[in-house]
Amino acid sequence: MNFTILIVDDEKNIRSGLARALESDGYRAVTAENGQAAWNIINSEEVDAVIADLKMPKLSGEELLKRISSSYPTIPVIILTGHGTIESAVAAMRDGAFDFVTKPVNLDRLSLLVKRAISNRELYRQHTALKEEMELLKKKQKFGKIVGKSSRMKQVMDVVEQVADTRASVLITGESGVGKELIADALHDLSSRARQPYIKVHCAALSESLLESELFGHEKGSFTGAASRRRGRFELANKGTIFLDEIGEINAQLQIKLLRVLQERTFERVGGEDPISVDVRIITATNKDLSAEIQAGRFREDLFYRLNVVHVHVPPLRERKEDIPLLTTAFLKEFSDENGKNIQGISQKAGALLYNYTWPGNIRELRNCIESAVVLCRGDVVEVEDLPLSIRQGSEDEQIMIPVGMSLEEAQQKIIQATLSHYGGNKSRTAEVLNIGRKTLHRKLQDSSID
Ligand SMILES: Nc1ncnc2c1ncn2[C@@H]1O[C@H](COP(=O)(O)OP(=O)(O)OP(=O)(O)O)[C@@H](O)[C@H]1O
Ligand SMILES: [Mg+2]
Repeated sequence: MNFTILIVDDEKNIRSGLARALESDGYRAVTAENGQAAWNIINSEEVDAVIADLKMPKLSGEELLKRISSSYPTIPVIILTGHGTIESAVAAMRDGAFDFVTKPVNLDRLSLLVKRAISNRELYRQHTALKEEMELLKKKQKFGKIVGKSSRMKQVMDVVEQVADTRASVLITGESGVGKELIADALHDLSSRARQPYIKVHCAALSESLLESELFGHEKGSFTGAASRRRGRFELANKGTIFLDEIGEINAQLQIKLLRVLQERTFERVGGEDPISVDVRIITATNKDLSAEIQAGRFREDLFYRLNVVHVHVPPLRERKEDIPLLTTAFLKEFSDENGKNIQGISQKAGALLYNYTWPGNIRELRNCIESAVVLCRGDVVEVEDLPLSIRQGSEDEQIMIPVGMSLEEAQQKIIQATLSHYGGNKSRTAEVLNIGRKTLHRKLQDSSID
């Protein structure tokens, strides 16, 4: 992309000198000889950064800075100051300048500052664009917490919206952490049963006998410990929805009882004889392959068909990578609010790592990863170092910069350092990758006193 830098100085030589330097860095340079001329340019064309002198006729640098800060807060301004006027530079920083450079200008420092100013601005832009997109999606979707704009997720949400307000049983499948429970929640929330009870049962968390009385209730004395009569979850869910999570875990006896509920909408409490009728919408979820369970004789085929009237499959995150940046932004916001931090975004490199990782634990893993990154992050942008090791190690094509003019010795140290941090400080692996002996590595580390 061709960025435009506006140079404002009343000295012609400085204007042309800086313009030449910036053009050789690949920027488009525009110049103005005073603050007023600069202000006119900013109001009429797209400017990505401003370099401005402080003392100028017509409109001073200070005044220009104030105008830019209030009308175009995302345009970074780098201030040029003469020697001995550091106070005014400090005042400028307080007024929102990105940074300052003293005259005579060190072009290398200026070039670095411009680069940083531009990349900061890009980051900020991406972040605000994603935030806006998120708000828009939230409004459009009515799906509260579910974030996603990939076509795969849109398909899922279309089905959810279509079937939410019916009594059809829904089976939700997908790997662990893909968001099955959120889908179940949305099905209930979007239905006309939303104001009625929503009961969740985690079928794998209870022993088989407990699960039966938990679901269907029991009569007094029906088993040891059943001191009084108790209503089960199906009764509690009457008129509403019941969500049976990990349905692949229930035993044969319960499968039969559940089948009867689905067919006749009635059941008896454990130890009871009176049939109880309920009006309950049944949603189930599993990360098991139920067809395989049926093949293996562990799951009843007739029950499967009853549960699977509507099938919603939630795809793994690696098959909808487009959702990663949006989810990242959403979680960054959630956890920076929760931790009282003001995280502005994530660096390009860190974002690329998240994008390229395969996420075996899906969205739950991404969410945990962002939570820990937010907690560890010291600045206002999440950097590669803030990410868990497992994710940093996943990237095989991490790069480092070796500028022309760097000594061989320095370059070598830079490579060693980068490799070492890439492998989380693992020296054997670092030596192996660099194709040197461990002893050599140790010596080189001592030479540079890297730890
Ligand atoms: N699309 C999404 N947008 C925002 N958060 C999501 C999304 N999908 C999942 N999450 C979050 O990820 C975490 C895991 O989701 P959930 O518990 O629904 O997964 P699951 O498929 O039920 O996993 P498991 O099979 O392990 O029970 C939750 O904290 C949930 O809020
Ligand atoms: Mg779950």
